[in-house]
Amino acid sequence: MADHPTAAIIGAGSSGIAAAKALHERGIPFDCFEASDRVGGNWVFGNRNGMSSAYRRLRINTSRDRMAYADFPMPRSLPDYPHHTQIAAYFEAYVDHFGFRDRIRFETTVRHARRRDDGVWELTLGDGSVERFDALLVANGHHWDARWPEPMFPGHETFAGVQMHAHDYRDSDIFAGRRVLVLGMGNSAMDIAAEASDVAERTFLAARRGAWIVPKYLFGRPVDQMPNDPRLPLALRMKAFELMLRLRVGRPERYGLPRPDHAFGQAHPTLSGRILDCLRQGAITPKPNIARLDGEEVEFADGSRERVDVVVYCTGYRISFPFFDADLVSAPGNRIGLFRRALHPDIPNLYFVALVQPLGATMPIAEAQAQWIADELRGEYARPARADMLRDIAAEDAAMRRRYVASPRHTIQIDFDDYLRDLERERRAGAARARAVGFPLPVPARAAAGDSVRA
Ligand SMILES: Cc1cc2nc3c(=O)[nH]c(=O)nc-3n(C[C@H](O)[C@H](O)[C@H](O)COP(=O)(O)OP(=O)(O)OC[C@H]3O[C@@H](n4cnc5c(N)ncnc54)[C@H](O)[C@@H]3O)c2cc1C
Ligand SMILES: NC(=O)c1ccc[n+]([C@@H]2O[C@H](COP(=O)([O-])OP(=O)(O)OC[C@H]3O[C@@H](n4cnc5c(N)ncnc54)[C@H](OP(=O)(O)O)[C@@H]3O)[C@@H](O)[C@H]2O)c1
Repeated sequence: MADHPTAAIIGAGSSGIAAAKALHERGIPFDCFEASDRVGGNWVFGNRNGMSSAYRRLRINTSRDRMAYADFPMPRSLPDYPHHTQIAAYFEAYVDHFGFRDRIRFETTVRHARRRDDGVWELTLGDGSVERFDALLVANGHHWDARWPEPMFPGHETFAGVQMHAHDYRDSDIFAGRRVLVLGMGNSAMDIAAEASDVAERTFLAARRGAWIVPKYLFGRPVDQMPNDPRLPLALRMKAFELMLRLRVGRPERYGLPRPDHAFGQAHPTLSGRILDCLRQGAITPKPNIARLDGEEVEFADGSRERVDVVVYCTGYRISFPFFDADLVSAPGNRIGLFRRALHPDIPNLYFVALVQPLGATMPIAEAQAQWIADELRGEYARPARADMLRDIAAEDAAMRRRYVASPRHTIQIDFDDYLRDLERERRAGAARARAVGFPLPVPARAAAGDSVRA
């Protein structure tokens, strides 16, 4: 154990705790830094870190059994799509079950992460103290830095109503008796428009492009539990799913929504059990994109105008790393080139956990990545040569650009089952490489071993 590199984890949300658990059970010394006073990140409603985007009635939209960590099933007593309080309690139970709570340093923000010339990471904490580690795992989440429309719509500075981002939405009481406009076709827009329609005088849903809307259940089963065999070609699976959607739900145009300009699977899935009913019942009025804001009114791309009291921009999030100098690591346009979405090809002791947008749940991905990272920290995995990683990253990026609608929301997409299968193959290939070179400890900072323990 003394020979293992020391590691720091930034964040104890669902990704950071998966990483902490893997390092804990694999005997790698680590500290996990968490800005908040509890684990769970986004799933802690009103989290004191100010970073949670959860609203009072939020439920997961990936089903219980798909979202659970592989070695810690959610209780069968929970519903298919539990409430955020149940999810937050599940993460707390995970930490206690595997017994690593004492490795999490709560209310400790990492303000700055600097990599010295010898590879050692120097972390500056909220109180100004500096600590050093051989390896850094980043699990700071990517759904907290609100992305407002870019550019903002003409007239936004003088608009008479309220303008807010989905990140700041908590409860529908703010919509009571008001005329509400929700912009976007992602999952935030679906939930918030449906909640608004319960209490608002009018609810409008504006979109710049259509989306295939997937109900939470198909044939009585949670939709993400439908058969999805990664051995079958992806295009065939997507086509089959689109056909099933058309048969069970009908085309989005039947609900007054714009016709999608893409096939199913070429955009991140929009799931909603309620939105289609709300549209058909007239509780929500669909609109094209906003053209401009004008005093108390909003003008839409088709020239129609409506008086609006509140605009909710459900326009997504930026990937941000406030603790890195931008010339070291950043994600302009939400793009960041990582090998299999986790390993930095040029900084061998820097890892990202669940910096992905899966067609499926995030937690089992974090769990698998964490075990893979632990393999490397123990010398049981040797990564491919840099040139091979760069080729792999470029090929993956090209495939994503070919497949998905061009949008900053489609830069870190993965297919859940396919990704997990490919990662397992890569772990095996890397284990063979490690065997061939005698199980090297991978972290360059070993040269400075005397300096690489916690201060
Ligand atoms: C409304 C909403 C609903 C969602 N629903 C689902 C769903 O149903 N299923 C699904 O799989 N995904 C869903 N997601 C995606 C969501 O990102 C993941 O569920 C999950 O929260 C990711 O966990 P994380 O640990 O990566 O990030 P987070 O949950 O954001 O946690 C990050 C943690 O890092 C800490 N942190 C950040 N910076 C620092 C720092 N500098 N120093 C110390 N600590 C720091 C934060 O305090 C926080 O605790 C949803 C997202 C949103 C916005
Ligand atoms: N219940 C749940 O579990 C739940 C609820 C909410 C969110 N989430 C998750 O949280 C994450 C974020 O979801 P999100 O819905 O907040 O963001 P998102 O998926 O990034 O969707 C953003 C939406 O805004 C549109 N948009 C962006 N900029 C625009 C502009 N300038 N003008 C008009 N439209 C614009 C996008 O359109 P384009 O496609 O054209 O870019 C897209 O429809 C996702 O992982 C989602 O699954 C889950």
